[in-house]
Order: sequence, then structure tokens, then C-alpha cells
Amino acid sequence: MAKQVISTPVIRRLPRYYRFLGDLELEHVERISSRELAQRMGLSASQIRQDFNCFGGFGQQGYGYHVKELRTVIGNILGVSEQTGVILIGAGNLGKAIAAHVDFEQRGCKLIGIFDSDPLLAGTSTAGIPIMPMETLASFCQLHKPSVAVLCIPKDAAQALADELIAVGIGGFWNFSHFDLRIKDPNVIVENVHLGDSLMTLAYCMHHDVETAE
Ligand code: NAI
Repeated sequence: MAKQVISTPVIRRLPRYYRFLGDLELEHVERISSRELAQRMGLSASQIRQDFNCFGGFGQQGYGYHVKELRTVIGNILGVSEQTGVILIGAGNLGKAIAAHVDFEQRGCKLIGIFDSDPLLAGTSTAGIPIMPMETLASFCQLHKPSVAVLCIPKDAAQALADELIAVGIGGFWNFSHFDLRIKDPNVIVENVHLGDSLMTLAYCMHHDVETAE
């Protein structure tokens, strides 16, 4: 089957729709027009309709969107009810914070293993998950078949480790290592996260008096 082509900005907006619809559900809002949803989200109504049309369109003319149903549909598109196996490498300050504070299960993922090269960390645990030595990584992956790796290691270790992880079946990287991975396999997905870039975007907007558009 041919791959579906959806633009990255549309994909990046989906979690945001999901989050806003979750808030509306908490407020017991049953239905909402694209105009009202657009106002809340700082988007235009036509942007919302265009985005949803990429997936076949969800609203009904004259009715708007049923909040709970739309959230379920978007959640299914995002795979939030799946339990994608995730491992985290590098149980330092950042790795521990991510393990403790990212709600993996609400996002269709399950953190099943944490690894670190520091022998002093082996046998300890974080967020209730034992930290394992790197020597056990390959056998763990063969047995439990995680699909995603969160990289919280120094940048100089990232590429070699990513290659190793691909060889044991990892197909997606949530990469915090500050090194933009070079992956030849087009089926492997990389999401590079740089919190500093986000801060610099904020700083730019403050210094340049720009109007931002989503
Ligand atoms: P840290 O030094 O507290 O933790 C790093 C951990 O990785 C240590 O426990 C260390 O033993 C382990 N480690 C090092 N090499 C390894 C290897 N080859 N295999 C397995 N484990 C290994 O550092 P911190 O503060 O947790 O930061 C981790 C990385 O994340 C750094 O590269 C840092 O620059 C980056 N970072 C990225 C951010 C982002 O927005 N992308 C934000 C903050 C940090």
C-alpha cells in the first residue's frame, strides 16, 4: 500500500488538538464549531478544516464537531491506545526527569527499560523501573522488542548507540542528545528535541516584535 503523505506541520498539530479536546471534555463541552475551536487554539477555522480533511474530515455541516468522538478519532490516529514499547538510555539528570515526568502511557507508549553505562547506577531504579547495564541491552531488546528509544546520553555517544539500537530492532528515536542523528534507513523515524531551540525561538520573538502564526 502506498505511504500516506501528511505534512509535518499537520502531524505536529494533532497532539495539540488532542490536548485541547481533552480540556473541552473536562469542561463537559459536548460539541464545538470549527470557529470556536479555532478561537480557543489561536488557529483559523479553515486551517482546522484543512487539517481534518487530511484524514477524511470529521465534522458535520451545521453541527460542528462532537468533542468526545473527535478526541477519540484523533487519539486513534495518534495511536494513544497502543502500548508501544520504549526504552530510555542515559539515566542522568535529564533521563530521570523524563522517566518520572513524561506520562508515556497517556501517549500510547510504555517505558519498559532504562539503561546506563555507569556501573554505579546498575541495580538502582528510577520512576520504579530498574536501571540496567548496557551489556544487557541487546538481549533485552531481543526478548521484549521495544520499538522506540529515548536518548538522554552525551552527544558524542549518540550516533554509535543509535546504529547499535537499529540493529536490535529500534525503529524510532526520541533524541535529546543534542546530536542530529544520521540514519540511512528511511523506515527509522527520528524526533530530535532541543529545548534550547524553543527558548531561542521565544527570545527571537521577544526581540523582533513579530506576529507568530501556527
Ligand atoms: P548526565 O551527565 O546527568 O547524564 C548522562 C547519563 O548518560 C549518565 O548517567 C551517563 O552515565 C550516561 N551515559 C553516558 N554515555 C553513555 C552511553 N554511551 N551509553 C549509556 N549511557 C551513557 O547528563 P544530563 O544532564 O542528563 O544530559 C544528558 C544529555 O542530554 C546531554 O547530552 C545534554 O546535553 C542533553 N540535554 C538535552 C536537552 C534537550 O533539550 N535536548 C536538555 C538537557 C540536556
